[in-house]
Amino acid sequence: MSKNVDLLVGSQWGDEGKGKVVDVLGSDVDVFVRYQGGANAGHTVVADGQKVVFKLLPSGMLYPGKLCILGNGLVIDPEQFLKETSELYSRGQDRARLAISPHAHVVMPYHKLLDKLQEEARGKTRKIGTTGRGIGPCYVDKYSRSGLRIEDLLDADLLRERLSYVLEEKNSLITKLYNHSPLPFDEIYEPAKNWGEALKPYVADVRALLRQAVDDGKHILLEGAQAALLDIDHGTYPYVTSSSTSAAGAFTGTGLAPRDLTRTIAVVKAYTTRVGEGPFPTEDFTEVGETLRKNGGEFGAVTGRPRRCGWLDMPALKYAMELNGADVIALTKLDVLTGMGNIKVCVAYEHNGERFDTWPTDMRMLSEITPLYETLPGWNEDISWCKNVEELPANAQAYIKYIEQNLKTPIGLIGVGQDRSQTIVKGM
Ligand code: GDP
Ligand code: IMO
Ligand code: MG
Repeated sequence: MSKNVDLLVGSQWGDEGKGKVVDVLGSDVDVFVRYQGGANAGHTVVADGQKVVFKLLPSGMLYPGKLCILGNGLVIDPEQFLKETSELYSRGQDRARLAISPHAHVVMPYHKLLDKLQEEARGKTRKIGTTGRGIGPCYVDKYSRSGLRIEDLLDADLLRERLSYVLEEKNSLITKLYNHSPLPFDEIYEPAKNWGEALKPYVADVRALLRQAVDDGKHILLEGAQAALLDIDHGTYPYVTSSSTSAAGAFTGTGLAPRDLTRTIAVVKAYTTRVGEGPFPTEDFTEVGETLRKNGGEFGAVTGRPRRCGWLDMPALKYAMELNGADVIALTKLDVLTGMGNIKVCVAYEHNGERFDTWPTDMRMLSEITPLYETLPGWNEDISWCKNVEELPANAQAYIKYIEQNLKTPIGLIGVGQDRSQTIVKGM
C-alpha cells in the first residue's frame, strides 16, 4: 500500500504564503483538503494573471478535476461558501469536485454577532483582534455540544427543533450579557434551511473518501490555515485562534491517522508578520517594519488590516518546527528582502539580564523580552526572475543556508514573487 499524504502548515502567525505554496505543488496533487479554521483564513493564489483569495475552499480549487475536501474540523460559514463557489463558477473554474463533511460545524449569524460583541466588551486593552468571522464562538458551541453541524441543515424539521433550543440559549446571552436585541427565529431559520438545500449536493462521507484515496496511493495535500503560534494550545494564548493549527489538527480535522502522513511541509516567511493583537518580540516600529509592510504588501487578505512586521525570529521558528515535526521548509517572500540593506535575525532573547535562546513558555514573559539579533549582509539585485538557487545573489544563498542550519531542516522551495511561476523548487 503506497501512501503520499503531505501536510502543509504555517510556522509563524499566519499569512506565510500557504495558498501560493499549495498552488505551486498542486499540479501533482489529487486531493486538496482544508481541515481546521474557517473563513478567518485568506490564502492567496496568483496564477495566469489572476489573483484569487481562498477563505474557506482549498487553494487547489483552480486545478480542474481534482477532488477538494472540507473536513470535519472546519467551521463553515455557508454564506461564505456559496459566495466563494459562485465566484469561482462564474469564472468558469467549477470543474474541481468539492465535498463537505457532514460533521463540520456551521458558523451561524449569532456566532458572528457574538464574536463582535465579545470583542467590543473586551475593549481596547483586552481584545484579541479577531477577524470577526464568528470562529471562536462557533468552536465554543462545538465543544459545549450546542453546535449545529452541516448535517443538521439537511433536515428542515430537525433543524427547526435544534435551532429553537440553541437560539434561545444564544439570545439569552445576547440580550442579558450584551444588552443587544434578540435574533428573531425566522430570520435565522429560513436562510439556514436554504443553506441546507444549497449544500446538500456537496455533502459526503469525506473521511471514507480520504481513506480510499490514501489506500489507492493518491497524492493528498492537507492545507493548514493560520499557523503554529496561533494554535489554541501551543500559541500565544489568549491571542490565538480557536483551533489546532499545528500538525496535530490535521488528524482530528479529517479522521486520517498519524501513520497516514508522509511528510510535513512548514511554510516560513523570510521575515515575520502578525495581524491582530498579542506579543510579537521582533516587531519593528521603525522604517524597517514600514518597508517590509510596503514591499511585502502586508495587508490582511481577509480584513485588509495592516500586518505588523519584523525580522525573523529563530527561537519562535525552532519551536514551530518541533511542534509541526517539519520535514521540509517552503521559504516564501525572499524577494521582499531585496534592497533592505543588512538583514537581522533574532537568535536569542534577554529577560531581566539573562540570555536564553528558546521560545518562552511563560506568556507574560513574551511581552517583556528583548530580542537579540545577528546581522547578515543583504542584497540589492532583483531575484524575482530566478529559477534556481545558483542564480540567487551569494548573500541570498547564505541567508537560505543560515536558516536551514539553524532550523536543522532543509528548504525545498523558495518564493521569489507572488506569481505561481516565481518559485524556486529546490528539492520537494
Ligand atoms: P497565507 O494565508 O499563508 O496563504 O498567505 P496570504 O495569502 O494571506 O499572504 C501572503 C501574501 O504574500 C499574498 O499576497 C501572496 O500572494 C504573497 N506571496 C506569497 N508568496 C510570495 C513570494 O514568494 N513573494 C512575494 N512577493 N509575495 C508572495
Ligand atoms: P491564514 O490562514 C493571520 C488571527 C486574527 C486574530 C486571531 C484570532 O490566512 O494564515 P479569529 O478570527 O481566528 O478568532 O482571530 O488570529 N488570525 C490570522 N492571522 N492569518 C490567518 O489565517 C489568521 N486567522 C486568524 O488576526 O489575531
Ligand atoms: Mg492569509
